[in-house]
Amino acid sequence: MTFPRSFVWGAATAAHQIEGSPFADGAGPSIWTRFSRTPGRMTNGDTGDVACDHYHRYRDDVALMKSLGLGAYRFSISWSRLFPNGTGELNPHGVDFYRRLVDALREAGIRPMATLYHWDLPAALDDRGGWLNRDVADWFADYASAAFRALDDGVEWWATLNEPWVVTDGGYLHGGLAPGHSNLFEAPIASHNLLRAHGRAVQAYRALGKHAIGIVVNLEPKVPASNSDADLDATRRADAYMNRQYLDPMFRRAYPEEMPDLFGAAWPQFPVADFDEIAAPVDFVGINYYKRGMTRRDPHQWVERASLVRVPGSIYTETDWEVHAPALTDLLLWFRERYGAMPVYITENGAAFYDPPAAFADVVEDPLRVHYLREHLAALGRALDAGVDVRGYFVWSLLDNLEWSHGYTKRFGIVHVDFATQKRTMKRSALVYRDFIASLK
Ligand code: FCB
Repeated sequence: MTFPRSFVWGAATAAHQIEGSPFADGAGPSIWTRFSRTPGRMTNGDTGDVACDHYHRYRDDVALMKSLGLGAYRFSISWSRLFPNGTGELNPHGVDFYRRLVDALREAGIRPMATLYHWDLPAALDDRGGWLNRDVADWFADYASAAFRALDDGVEWWATLNEPWVVTDGGYLHGGLAPGHSNLFEAPIASHNLLRAHGRAVQAYRALGKHAIGIVVNLEPKVPASNSDADLDATRRADAYMNRQYLDPMFRRAYPEEMPDLFGAAWPQFPVADFDEIAAPVDFVGINYYKRGMTRRDPHQWVERASLVRVPGSIYTETDWEVHAPALTDLLLWFRERYGAMPVYITENGAAFYDPPAAFADVVEDPLRVHYLREHLAALGRALDAGVDVRGYFVWSLLDNLEWSHGYTKRFGIVHVDFATQKRTMKRSALVYRDFIASLK
């Protein structure tokens, strides 16, 4: 398996999942600070108030990355640290935190990839309709422009949105994620405004004359559970909903033809001119890959009328996700086939398995995660051998962290975190990753 020397090896995190101190230095609340304070929303009533305390420990965490030989780090910027009310006055103390982080990364020789939106919308903007308000595209473009001005000299790559599908499916259709709505009519509007906001931020970035901005989507290859017409149709619907809903408008200027059938009367007519914004050319696409989706017809499952079946003999993670590395290769080939050759980064890939809350040795043994990592690196290598233009890989995640509404119960880190003491301990997977990266030098 041959990776070019220029291949980027990194790890990924997100602000709300690791930083803690949500109100420090004048920051405003986000929809996640609000959601996690709503009874019944979070497992064990967990919040992001402390998380990995990365807000205070970022220097140590950068040192940890350096000790692993990472060449890049993907993190996200919390909008409400920069703009406590979402719009208006820039909070210089919020900028300072990311300035210090980016400088520390640069000093350590680690190239920063910054995501502008990893799910933590300022609560003040949610009060004005959030992603349902068409003005959100302006709000986001203004925020993005301020972030570019403040940090672009240190940030190597920008990603506009993280996983718009999850934002709307979890936040507006099924309600398990912030802001917790469950409304068939809202979901397509939120999706469309996310895409418009993305396009507007890309356009704002172009004004700087630079070429390192993209979007991050989560893709899950859908495979029919049988050859019946019912399952084949269900697979097509599930694929349109999850995999093509965001990429088609960006690269083909139209939503997948299945969408009106999925949403029925809730599917709006969108202004044609919007697609000019949405299709603003990007420099790369970030793909988050976790699992394959073995699919069957299920009339009760909104909106795709499809659900997943368990595959006998497969390993499942703690989040009940099927481990299936070959689908990563297939996915990358499919992506190139449908959307054309372009630079791609695997911006997230990883697995939650049971690890003990406290570490009793210098290394936490995590054989299943080691297996997951090895298999997926091999699958990635096969995509490169087939000529797919993959430029980098970011493991999810550097640290065990707040797994959204699951709280601290799902550990995705290659580094173990004891949440009672904040002690970091390497897991075997981190050492395997470190040695793998070193072996390519
Ligand atoms: C992805 C999210 C990321 C993390 C992983 C496990 O959907 O982007 O923040 O929660 O799943």
